[in-house]
Parts: sequence; structure tokens; C-alpha cells
Amino acid sequence: MASFTFIYSSVSILLSLFLLFSQSKGVPQDVLSTICSQTQNQKICESILTKDPRTSSADLPLLSLISLEITSKQVDNNFNTFKQFRDNTTNLSVKNAFGKCVTIYQQLQDKVKVAHQLSEHKKYKEINGLGQLKTLAYACENGLPSDSPTSAITEDMLLTSETAISVNDYVATSLS
Ligand SMILES: *[C@@H]1O[C@H](CO)[C@@H](O)[C@H](O)[C@H]1NC(C)=O
Ligand SMILES: *[C@@H]1O[C@H](CO)[C@@H](O)[C@H](O)[C@H]1NC(C)=O
Repeated sequence: MASFTFIYSSVSILLSLFLLFSQSKGVPQDVLSTICSQTQNQKICESILTKDPRTSSADLPLLSLISLEITSKQVDNNFNTFKQFRDNTTNLSVKNAFGKCVTIYQQLQDKVKVAHQLSEHKKYKEINGLGQLKTLAYACENGLPSDSPTSAITEDMLLTSETAISVNDYVATSLS
């Protein structure tokens, strides 16, 4: 009888622990807030992350991957748009400036790909190329005429980059 009680209570402790951990799976809202408070615009950062349906049940490793996949999509989107502007414009100096942006966004694609591979291998501390995303996005936009219709997608790139930087800084600090 005593051993039955012992087994029974061990099982129920294990069961409660299991339930506790399965319920706490997913990044809590206060962690998202902490991460996003490190960016220019906390609300936009949170909406960038929660737009991906996986975020609500993601753990930190998945949140890192999600942030990089969102960034990768933004880079691809901007790359294609800058390529269209380059091909559509007949003004040679403007065409050259858009061409530089196309080259810059190819570099951005490579940097995000490297970061994603490091994240897949959980080498969060080695993800240090993300700071350059913002520098490069600025370099592209600053080379364009001041009336360029691309300032909005550059702003999106900057906000998405900041979000990914903050997520990955947080994950690198928490998981190592
Ligand atoms: C470039 O031209 C194509 C074809 O005319 C058009 O569909 C596209 O929207 C233009 N893109 C930009 C960014 O102006
Ligand atoms: C090309 O665009 C630049 C910047 O908008 C402008 O200053 C220049 O006058 C344009 N050149 C021609 C030939 O239209």
C-alpha cells in the first residue's frame, strides 16, 4: 500500500510538471514586450512578430528563426522592388543608384541566410551580422534622390531588422 501511494504520487508529480511545462510553452507576452522595448517602436515590433501565426506558441529558438524568416521576406521584397525601379527608370544616375541598392540587398540576403543557419545550429552568440542590416539599408536609401518613393520600404526594412536584432540578442543572452 505504501509503495502504491509512492508510485501514485510520483506519477501525479510528473503529470503536474508535464502540464506545467506544456502550458508554459510559448514566449510569454512580457518577454515579447521586453524584446520589443529595445526597438524604436515597440508596437510595430510586436505586430511584426505576432503577424506570424507560429509566434503565439513559439519557444525562444523558434522565435529566433521566425524573426529571421520575417527579415528574409522583407529583404526579398525590397530586393525585387529595387530591381523593378532600376529596370523601369530611364534616368541613368537614378538607375545606377537603384543598381547599388540591388547589390546591397543581395548582401543582405546573404547575411540573413548566414544568421538563419547559425540559429538552426543554436549558435546565437555567433549571430553578429544583423547590425549591418540597418547600416546597409541606410546606405541604399541615402544614395537615392530625396524624392525616391522607396523611403517606406526602407523604413520597413529598418524596423524588421531592429526586431530581429533584439530577438536574437535576447535569445543569445537567455540560452547560453
Ligand atoms: C515597373 O514596370 C512594370 C511594367 O511596366 C510595372 O508592372 C511595375 O509596377 C513597375 N515597378 C515599379 C517599382 O515601378
Ligand atoms: C536624373 O535624376 C536626378 C535626381 O532626381 C535629377 O537631378 C536629374 O536632373 C535627372 N536627369 C535627367 C537627365 O533627367
